[in-house]
Amino acid sequence: MISAHDLDVERATSLTDHELAELCEATDAAIIEAGGFGWLQPQGREALTRHFKGLLLVPERELFVARLDGTIVGSAQLNRPPRNNEAQAFSAWLTHAYIAPYARGHGLARLLVARVEERAAALGHRVINLDVRSTQLNAMALFEGLGYIRWGTHPAYARVDGQTVEGHYYYKIIDKVRGGRRLDMTAGGGADESN
Ligand SMILES: CC(C)(COP(=O)(O)OP(=O)(O)OC[C@H]1O[C@@H](n2cnc3c(N)ncnc32)[C@H](O)[C@@H]1OP(=O)(O)O)[C@@H](O)C(=O)NCCC(=O)NCCS
Repeated sequence: MISAHDLDVERATSLTDHELAELCEATDAAIIEAGGFGWLQPQGREALTRHFKGLLLVPERELFVARLDGTIVGSAQLNRPPRNNEAQAFSAWLTHAYIAPYARGHGLARLLVARVEERAAALGHRVINLDVRSTQLNAMALFEGLGYIRWGTHPAYARVDGQTVEGHYYYKIIDKVRGGRRLDMTAGGGADESN
């Protein structure tokens, strides 16, 4: 997609007060429009500032911010397994991805997901997992268009406005070839030298 706008996504390890204000505004705008976070009600700048400052301190979590013409308008998180979960160290979760309604349709979400995938691959992860409420049709189109495979549906995934909502679970295998060795990620598979 060619955009007349300046699109940028970066991993945030610290945020200025101004950046936090933009991020909180984008987050509340996405919550009000119903999506991207577990919150159902807007949280306000103070609570969201505490949330994001705390998030930056969690070793297993990485925050990515999306900018449209220099302004932060969305974010996503890469959640890595804790150190005691060696069996699943090859996988990571993409969570809380959203673009504020006023910045959608420019290709930012596509770029956001690509950057998270690149970072996950660079950290050695080979599988990305994610889940989406079945009502998030745009997100499902986004992820399915990027090659995520839906492997299951949780019938009692969330409660929104007094209604139970299904949730879809997806995975994607990333960067299958590393150092000339093809990694077979299917059940029972291992490293295949024949590649
Ligand atoms: C889903 C979301 C992140 C897309 O953000 P965006 O920046 O507008 O998306 P992009 O412009 O990068 O579009 C990428 C792809 O997403 C899908 N998509 C985005 N908006 C869409 C729409 N209105 N209708 C259908 N598909 C849509 C398309 O597949 C699109 O690819 P295409 O342009 O080749 O058709 C945004 O709508 C959002 O924040 N939704 C609410 C939060 C949410 O559902 N988050 C996911 C839960 S983790």
